[in-house]
Amino acid sequence: MEYSLVCIECGREYEREDVYTCECGGLLEVRIDDTEIDFRLDGKELRVWKYGCLLPVKIEPISLKEGGTPLYECDRIGKEVGCKVFVKHEGANPSGSFKDRGMTVGVTKAIELGKSAVACASTGNTSASMAMYAAKAGLMAYVLLPAGKVALGKVAQALMHGAKVIGIKGNFDQALALVRQICAMQGFYLLNSVNPFRLEGQKTIAYEIVDELGFVPDKVVLPVGNAGNISAIWKGFKELKRFGLIDSLPKMIGVQAEGANPIYKAVKEKKDDIEPVLNPETIATAIRIGQPVNARKALRAIYESKGTAVQVSDEDITKAQKDLASKEGIGVEPASAASIAGLRKLAENGEIERDETVVCITTGHLLKDPEAVLRACGKPIEVEPSVEAILKVL
Ligand code: F0G
Repeated sequence: MEYSLVCIECGREYEREDVYTCECGGLLEVRIDDTEIDFRLDGKELRVWKYGCLLPVKIEPISLKEGGTPLYECDRIGKEVGCKVFVKHEGANPSGSFKDRGMTVGVTKAIELGKSAVACASTGNTSASMAMYAAKAGLMAYVLLPAGKVALGKVAQALMHGAKVIGIKGNFDQALALVRQICAMQGFYLLNSVNPFRLEGQKTIAYEIVDELGFVPDKVVLPVGNAGNISAIWKGFKELKRFGLIDSLPKMIGVQAEGANPIYKAVKEKKDDIEPVLNPETIATAIRIGQPVNARKALRAIYESKGTAVQVSDEDITKAQKDLASKEGIGVEPASAASIAGLRKLAENGEIERDETVVCITTGHLLKDPEAVLRACGKPIEVEPSVEAILKVL
């Protein structure tokens, strides 16, 4: 398969693959040339590399069997909001988040380019996933985190998989600016979502949704942080249409937390770029981001698809997290619950039709953030070791 890197702003094409942004400052995108499709959307054997003919790597992939995540029909929540609701649970990936789809491609690209070290800034999940795939590939991994603002499970993963983890006394946006400089100085391969190859892996979420459902949903709802995933999924749907595998496209709905809402504000004001939020704050630490690097791509995805953005409060997020866990049996971290909170917001605003099908993406697993669970549910009751004492509290 042939492809090129193209700037989304000025259209300049790059032969070299070890670039992340254009000289004009614009974001790059992988443009796939016309090619033979060697998979069928038959609902069988879903996984990222089923769609390998549309993934831009030239060597055997570094894989931990990512993708093929469950798509659950959620009748209870569907009844409440008045449409057919499916949840695609990306928490079921090997490291517990959707990032694995991007990392299998990104880390493979690092090997292809002869790199010996990879690096990222992260609100947690990117670092956990990168550390895992770097371990599999035998690469060094360097991680910058906003100190004290990353959920425990994610830090645990990055550490155990052998990454060098550095907490910076600042937020994610600062960590990202710093890691970009460090990568340029040290020759580390940058695996944040500004890397266009990583997003190629994430577009397989769109492929799998159509593969499993057998049709294109009306809306896809997902949390937006650094704004890579919404851009990637939209690209995936557009490619399926371009290659004649589907003939309609869904509306893309981005959900942000009220305290970290630059994309929401831009959409509300119909702007094509964001004003950064300087001190982003939310319990959904995964999306605690004020200056999303992929904002321009994400805004295009929302406008082209005739979608929208909504904002939700931390209380909405916690309620949605509890609902999903206790009514549907799906355990997700707070950022992921934002998709369900966003769906409820759409329903409240009258933006859901009765016969619609909506797919919400839950991006990360419940166990990523055990501290958020204790804050939401309290600690277990402790009693004396006797039947009487237990019966008393039952
Ligand atoms: N949900 C979860 C659980 C995430 O970890 C992230 C991003 C998002 C949603 C938002 O996705 O950035 O593509 O818009 N986490 C990144 C990280 C920033 O470092 O783990 P996005």
